[in-house]
Amino acid sequence: MTDSKHLSRRDFLKFTTGAIGGAITISVALPTIGYLLDPALRKQGGEGWITIGKLDEIPIGTPYPFSFTRTKVNGWERTSSTYGGFVLRRSEDPNDLFILSSRCTHLSCRVNWNEEAQAYICPCHDAKFSKEGEVLDGPPPRPLDRYDEFEIDEEGNLRIFFREG
Ligand code: FES
Repeated sequence: MTDSKHLSRRDFLKFTTGAIGGAITISVALPTIGYLLDPALRKQGGEGWITIGKLDEIPIGTPYPFSFTRTKVNGWERTSSTYGGFVLRRSEDPNDLFILSSRCTHLSCRVNWNEEAQAYICPCHDAKFSKEGEVLDGPPPRPLDRYDEFEIDEEGNLRIFFREG
């Protein structure tokens, strides 16, 4: 007959084996669960600073095209999108800039600068925008969007703040 206040050797071994097994299972499972869930909790790439180029290499008076790609991570989903625009330096003043999006405000086709017409032309429905982005002709409901937040860094690079809109 066993004493109910004392663990038998067999019960002690059972308990110890169970506890060690549980600890091993937890130590393996936690990092695995963390690894699997981490991407689902991660969200990045929507906004940030984009370097366009050296300001002193951008001509004054002529729209200077640029483009960049952003990869958005939302959980396990990665989406890359390309954006573009034009920098218009209006004078030597580094803050006298118009930075326009090249996305047409009608149905989002990409506009191109046409030197001869002195206008941005949208190839989809023949819209025309002035050098500063105002609608001159066609169906767009508003001027080209502008990147209003920009800076010149210590190396003289023009950077814009990209915000998905
Ligand atoms: S998308 Fe540009 S005019 Fe329609």
